[in-house]
Amino acid sequence: MAAQFLFKVVSSYALLVSATPITSSIAAAPPGASMAQPPIFAGSGCAGDTDASWSGGVDSLTLVYPVLSGKTGPGISISDSRHNCQFVFDIAYPDNYQYSVSSVSYAGAASLDAGGTATPSGLSYFSGGTPQITWSTTLTGPYNGGYSAVYTPSAADTVWSPCGGGDSLLDVNSVALANRNAQVAGSVTVSNATVSLQWRTC
Ligand SMILES: *[C@@H]1O[C@H](CO)[C@@H](O)[C@H](O)[C@H]1NC(C)=O
Repeated sequence: MAAQFLFKVVSSYALLVSATPITSSIAAAPPGASMAQPPIFAGSGCAGDTDASWSGGVDSLTLVYPVLSGKTGPGISISDSRHNCQFVFDIAYPDNYQYSVSSVSYAGAASLDAGGTATPSGLSYFSGGTPQITWSTTLTGPYNGGYSAVYTPSAADTVWSPCGGGDSLLDVNSVALANRNAQVAGSVTVSNATVSLQWRTC
């Protein structure tokens, strides 16, 4: 199933990168745009089927990560310093529309002794397409509390889904990284991310 979707996305992407769509911006998802399959997710920071969830329609996706964290410090293994959780959204839409990520807001908490840093981050791309967008924030110890950040891609950085309709697989990967330092205790979480989508006609 996944391989079929991937093939479809790869072939429509290849066909359409050379086309120059005449575009006009619209705010809302078009009629007929829908989540074609329930989202899937995987990664060391998802920790099981029941530990990640999403809400929202095809304009805004809220991803919740109850166990996504990274830790570092005395006695903590290097593999605990970074965990990730990646969602794949199968979004179907009519052939005269395309969409892109317009902003990502993400939030969590960190506890860092002096000298420690942490980097909550993420990236998004369409399966089969190479351009991706990335976001990150660096937190510097001493730090103890919540954080929230918003990433808004510039027009040049914005990556649009292929025209031509069908399915697109939107991948969103979130990463909690406590920058490795065996002497300094630190931890960071990503508790949620809200991915806003914008739509336009091809
Ligand atoms: C996201 O997490 C932050 C901090 O943990 C919290 O304040 C906020 O309400 C959460 N937002 C959503 C949409 O769950």
